[in-house]
Amino acid sequence: MARGSILILVIWAFILRVSMSHSRFLRAHPYGVFDDMPRIPAHPDNGAAWITGASSGIGAALAGELHSRGWSVVLSARSESSLNELAARLGDRAMAVPCDVTDKASIATAAAQIRSRFHRIGLVVSNAGVYEPFEGQNFDADLFRKTIDVNLGGAALLAEAVLPEMARNKEGHFHIVSSATGFGGMPTCSAYGASKAGLINMAECLKLEMNRFNVGISISTPGFVDTPAQADTPFPKPFMIQPSEAAINIANAVERGGFETTFPRRFTWILKAIYALPRPLYLPIVRRFTGWNKPVKPKDLA
Ligand SMILES: NC(=O)c1ccc[n+]([C@@H]2O[C@H](COP(=O)([O-])OP(=O)(O)OC[C@H]3O[C@@H](n4cnc5c(N)ncnc54)[C@H](OP(=O)(O)O)[C@@H]3O)[C@@H](O)[C@H]2O)c1
Repeated sequence: MARGSILILVIWAFILRVSMSHSRFLRAHPYGVFDDMPRIPAHPDNGAAWITGASSGIGAALAGELHSRGWSVVLSARSESSLNELAARLGDRAMAVPCDVTDKASIATAAAQIRSRFHRIGLVVSNAGVYEPFEGQNFDADLFRKTIDVNLGGAALLAEAVLPEMARNKEGHFHIVSSATGFGGMPTCSAYGASKAGLINMAECLKLEMNRFNVGISISTPGFVDTPAQADTPFPKPFMIQPSEAAINIANAVERGGFETTFPRRFTWILKAIYALPRPLYLPIVRRFTGWNKPVKPKDLA
């Protein structure tokens, strides 16, 4: 069974890869066989970059990366002291604006503060997120709701605070940090995965709607990144990268202006190929890889 699955996976990945290069060829064709989606790059001239979840991990590294590329950066999260420390370290063109992404009033106040200092918000990176692992036998609806509130609801409140103005100005870029977990199901991720899959769908809808207003929409789907959020992951974390590498990928992506960036590709492309398989194949592969094929132990029940 395992050998058969791997063979089908390899063939599937090959078909996927060939069809991707083929569609790239068609899009590059001078007669435009397909109507390509426009690239809308983010640029420091359009206004400041507002990054949520900037007190640690990917968000903090991204603030540093964008700042080094000439952006004015606004750092948001709840931990005021960490934000102040990082903003002070970056110096000029950096501002700490604490806010809670689950609180509409807090986001509105933050947006007003940013506009009063920098006038325009040219780039928003909706990055704040939580990972609260639990399993079905100990299902926790409160943790589920909290995860959806922060990860998905936070992006929605940010979108409401900035997209209408970007549409009116006919410029700006909104980037959402999702996760490769959003491609398909993983053990312990019913809440986190649902929030990240929701973000991918949300970004696709916004891309279709907002490009008409010259507003860029993009998404990143990282694999494992070595941050405090990863500490609780109860299965192997292959190809884990550092937050600085994630930050370079995201900064490059928003400055290119395409739709999705996924990294590290040596891992996320394998995941994409697995999740493109029919479910009777992908579920056993994921179960084996994560170790959820082992017998239940008493400690599995809380
Ligand atoms: N690490 C990975 O392997 C990985 C992989 C794929 C995707 N991601 C995604 O990348 C993003 C950043 O995660 P990370 O790995 O860098 O984790 P992290 O270091 O734990 O950062 C999470 C950030 O979100 C902020 N945050 C949490 N709740 C918030 C709230 N209610 N309001 C405002 N800010 C809030 C935290 O700051 P405060 O606690 O101070 O508010 C912190 O700055 C998340 O969306 C995560 O899902 C991570």
